[in-house]
Amino acid sequence: MCGLVGYIGERDVTPILLDGLKRLEYRGYDSAGIATLVNSHVEIVKRAGKVNDLENLVALNPKPATIGLGHTRWATHGEPSDKNAHPHIDHTGTITLAHNGIIENYAAIRQRLQRDGVEFTTDTDTESLLQLISAFYDITGNLEDAVRFALSEIDGTYGIIVMSSKEPEKLIAARMGSPLALGINDGEYIVASDASAIVGHTRQVIFLEDGNIATLTREGYEIKTIYDEKIEHKVTEITFDIEQIEKGGYDHFMLKEIHEQPQTVLDSMRGRILKNHGTAKLGGLRDVMNALNSAQRILITACGTSWHAGLVGEYMLEQYARIPVEVEYASEFRYRSPIIRHDDVVIAISQSGETADTLAALREAKLQGASVIGICNVVGSTIARETHAGVYTHAGPEIGVASTKAFTSQLAVLSLLTLMLGRNRGFISLEQGVEIAKEFEAIPGKIQQILDENISEIKTIADSITESTNVLYLGRGYNFPTALEGALKLKEISYIHAEGYPAAEMKHGPIALIDENMPVIFIAPQDKIHEKVISNIEEVRARKGRVIAIVNHDDEQIESLCEHVIKIPPTTDFLTPMLTIIPLQLLSYYVAVNRNCDVDQPRNLAKSVTVE
Ligand code: M6R
Repeated sequence: MCGLVGYIGERDVTPILLDGLKRLEYRGYDSAGIATLVNSHVEIVKRAGKVNDLENLVALNPKPATIGLGHTRWATHGEPSDKNAHPHIDHTGTITLAHNGIIENYAAIRQRLQRDGVEFTTDTDTESLLQLISAFYDITGNLEDAVRFALSEIDGTYGIIVMSSKEPEKLIAARMGSPLALGINDGEYIVASDASAIVGHTRQVIFLEDGNIATLTREGYEIKTIYDEKIEHKVTEITFDIEQIEKGGYDHFMLKEIHEQPQTVLDSMRGRILKNHGTAKLGGLRDVMNALNSAQRILITACGTSWHAGLVGEYMLEQYARIPVEVEYASEFRYRSPIIRHDDVVIAISQSGETADTLAALREAKLQGASVIGICNVVGSTIARETHAGVYTHAGPEIGVASTKAFTSQLAVLSLLTLMLGRNRGFISLEQGVEIAKEFEAIPGKIQQILDENISEIKTIADSITESTNVLYLGRGYNFPTALEGALKLKEISYIHAEGYPAAEMKHGPIALIDENMPVIFIAPQDKIHEKVISNIEEVRARKGRVIAIVNHDDEQIESLCEHVIKIPPTTDFLTPMLTIIPLQLLSYYVAVNRNCDVDQPRNLAKSVTVE
């Protein structure tokens, strides 16, 4: 949450900061600001609203500078307002700072400094850290030392960028629990909360570790621990292109990302299917293969959409690899004293690889001796680095706050894992494995077919539910998690209340909601519980509910029972969610567009939730 960017070099810093903030805006977007050093004087421009609003304000009085920092905010402490927008400046008007994370002991620091006469001007937790740095600066006269001393008193999480008008040749960045990457270019450095703000300038980056403090000057950089010990870091090459983080002709990132799925699912599976052996190979899991093959239990932990992928994973791993699986909300996992055994394997699923709850859960699992695997999309992310082994989903940068292509890629990886473990553990035969592998290869084409054939019908359905206040999503088996995910997509971006349920659970309560105004979306491919789902559809019809269904092409029986149907090609049962979710993503997209909602930056949300 929140985007941070800082620059030191020879070029005009303002356009670099604004461009960086636009690329980071998906991380948080309730206010934004930049601070630059102009003739050794701190100039801050900030305001509530989007980066575009900030840009307009900056344009009124442009001031060239070659060092600065910027921030786009997702409010935690203090409402989104001009005053609370970052960067902040200390009471002496010397030091400016932007912060991502939460300072947990901010109140105690604030009281202490206020007793010493320091005047606070914002409602943020961040200002306590800033004024504390300022207090140490008073004593040391050295920004790096002041930052180090102040951070050693902080409880909580931070990614920070700091500069001082008294040391105009220096930018300091530090992290603890909140990502920061340092881009290295000829005579210039760009530090940002993720690589999307860096890739337009350089591909060479260093991912800072927790407890690192980086000091950047035009002459070079130095990374130290909080205890002042110098450390070396590997420079990594960013592999994605700038085009991948642009809209490419689509109205929204979400629509682009939905349409990318034939390719991203292919990329998730590329080189990982051993067709003739009817199995899969996930090289990243090499070090934990023994633990996986002999696991007595798998625990999957994740949040939001990634948690839904985990639920599908539970169904497939239990059915095909015969391993008991439990799926846990990461936010609950750590705090409910979970029983974790040494022969458990814990899988943490995360698109961003930075979700604080998921990170906390995996750390707990590691502490208790389990082998921990990550399924992450962002290369070099904290979760990817802290797990014992892992698999990247290779979906490419996902910018839309509502997760789409990351979900199908997570499903692809979980399906490969299922095939591999099912074969290794002897529950999938060679013949079955070969059949499944063939079906894997057909999935990208089938996703493309759904995108090609259904847009017009989906738009019609979207028109018919745009004014609804509630929508129910029902599915069974593998498509119960799809129902949850479809409902999450609709509520996130259109603000229509939506719930997902196992279709048969409806009669135990939610059926009371059904009347002629309630759209009920059934996910009903022809699987082994198809007949049962038809009975559930009849139950809704009997109460005059409006039935919309996702069905296979030749399913005339259901078609005759529904107001609308969306037709998709058939596939093997455990792969169906990769197909059934596509129309649901599109449906929520078109409903949100009809309602004039901000699709890519829905209210109150942020792309990566780096606070617990
Ligand atoms: O980056 P992660 O996969 O760890 O994020 C988990 C959730 O925050 C995320 O899936 C969230 O629910 C999305 N907004 C869903 O569209």
